[in-house]
Amino acid sequence: MIHTDDILFDLRSWLWQRPDNLGPSNDLAAFRYELLELAQAGGWIVEEIGPVFGESLPLLRRADAAADLPRVLIASGFHGEESAGPWGMLEFLRTLPAECHTQVTLTLLPLVNPTGFSAGKRFNRLGENPNRGWGRGKGDDQPSAEGRLLLAHGERLRALGRDGVLACHEDVAAHHTYAYTFEPERSVPGQLTAALLNEAQRHFALYPDGLVDGCPIQGGCVFNHYDGSFEAWLSDSGVACAACIETPGQQDFGQRVIAQAGLMQAFVAQRVSAFG
Ligand code: NI
Repeated sequence: MIHTDDILFDLRSWLWQRPDNLGPSNDLAAFRYELLELAQAGGWIVEEIGPVFGESLPLLRRADAAADLPRVLIASGFHGEESAGPWGMLEFLRTLPAECHTQVTLTLLPLVNPTGFSAGKRFNRLGENPNRGWGRGKGDDQPSAEGRLLLAHGERLRALGRDGVLACHEDVAAHHTYAYTFEPERSVPGQLTAALLNEAQRHFALYPDGLVDGCPIQGGCVFNHYDGSFEAWLSDSGVACAACIETPGQQDFGQRVIAQAGLMQAFVAQRVSAFG
């Protein structure tokens, strides 16, 4: 099903200026250059999941992955107008302590929807929504071109995100921050949700209780809501927990980038501590 709101969203291009006059938020060449530099400096292996519409869809993984460490998958850039996610992942890479890799095996999908990113638009070049058409709750939605590529690696992504999956989004209409969390063993939000929301409110005020996108939200959280998204699909596929963070597009872009990186760090730290 195509939602009216989604069509309205996709007509519009959302661009921001990066701090320090570094250029616009949709500068794909600059993003790729910085990503490859950081990946090389940090000892990451860069794999190609794409191409999609002729563009790279990279996956970053560790060569030094140890079997006895928790495995965490972080993905960003599903929606092209939510560009603080991918830039936040660069900030995360820039500030990640090297010791982290002795505690957790990370895998990163820094930019799932490159054609949306370069256009500053929500959907991909064909107008497909890369974060719909996944698993339970997908209804009649079909996976996008990006979704089909990722689904071809589905078993592997599930294994790489066994102990936690984080998807990094923004809500361009929002002034407040919130999260969708999946703690499938629980009926009420637990420590994962608390850790993410604690970090989120260091940066922005939490979304008021009520409804967000038609979903009940309480304390800044939409809980265990299976909506046909990537993170809902992986949660349903048996990973320990999953979450989707949302930074507010009506706030300063530079602060959103810092918040995204902080939320990625908080997610990893919580997963490491939960693993014991
Ligand atoms: Ni989104």
